[in-house]
Amino acid sequence: MDTVVSGIRSTGNLHLGNYFGALRNFTRMQHENRCFFFIADYHSLTTHPTPSNLHANVRQVLSEYLACGIDPEVATIYLQSDVPEVTELYLLLNMIAYKGELERTTTFKEKVRNQPDNVNAGLLTYPVLMAADIIIHKAHRVPVGKDQEPHLEITRKFARRFNTMYNTGTFPEPEAYNFGEKLVKIPGLDGSGKMGKSEGNGIYLSDDEKAIRRKVMRAVTDSGPDQPNQKMAEPIRNLFTIMQFVSEPDVIRHFKKQYADCTIRYGDLKKQLADDLSAFVAPIRERITEISANSEYLRKVVNTGRDKARESASKTVREVREVIGFRPF
Ligand code: TRP
Repeated sequence: MDTVVSGIRSTGNLHLGNYFGALRNFTRMQHENRCFFFIADYHSLTTHPTPSNLHANVRQVLSEYLACGIDPEVATIYLQSDVPEVTELYLLLNMIAYKGELERTTTFKEKVRNQPDNVNAGLLTYPVLMAADIIIHKAHRVPVGKDQEPHLEITRKFARRFNTMYNTGTFPEPEAYNFGEKLVKIPGLDGSGKMGKSEGNGIYLSDDEKAIRRKVMRAVTDSGPDQPNQKMAEPIRNLFTIMQFVSEPDVIRHFKKQYADCTIRYGDLKKQLADDLSAFVAPIRERITEISANSEYLRKVVNTGRDKARESASKTVREVREVIGFRPF
């Protein structure tokens, strides 16, 4: 059985892109692997050092993950800051991570551009902490999107380097895991590109029907087809793409036919899409509300997760200390 590790930033709520791109797969994956899912609350401080409510952010993300079907009885779900072994391994990995390679990491350079006034050391060593997150459980696979590939590459480098420097086989080299299928990309509602939290073009799992309707009705369209079987422009194609995830095949066929014979009215299409999105999101949203109000349940989930994660993590750290040469007196 493979070990899978994935971290979730605690900044920002989950949108449909996160759901179809990752979460839906996590809920399937948890049954076939030894899965560790954690909330990267330390990492969130590299970009948001003084969050107005760190605890509320973590609570929300945790509730959303549980609402999407991550089962704390099956997978291990925990908070990064609950596992001190991670920070210990992070410190030890910092000794074999070079300043130059960290500075050259594309994600670091990008963040320096985004926050030139806060180029903190945590930002520079972000990949070191992420590597610690991953190899602390001796992970084989890490489900990440394209944007995280540089981090995974450097994680593999650290694992390899540790093994070589200390002449040990402690760490497997973790591989990116793309769920074996074509990566699913949910487009945004702003006409081009994918759904993302920084783009502000998303439908969130916590959105109510009114919010969904407002966003969908405002989605970018064009002036409509003026000849039969006209090629669809990107904004229209995007609406149909989103439909494929939430609407019945008959409904999609109906509107495609209307597009082809130029009788389509985008207002009707949007109304249908808003209805179908609302129906899809509603049960998830209700579960989020229910779970986030249940402090006792959340406390139990977090405590159980912490214990399971620490059991695995402390085993690795014990081995690492031994390998490096720390000895009890
Ligand atoms: N860097 C990841 C992101 O921004 C979050 C993350 C932190 C992570 N540690 C991880 C992802 C370990 C996978 C494995 O989304």
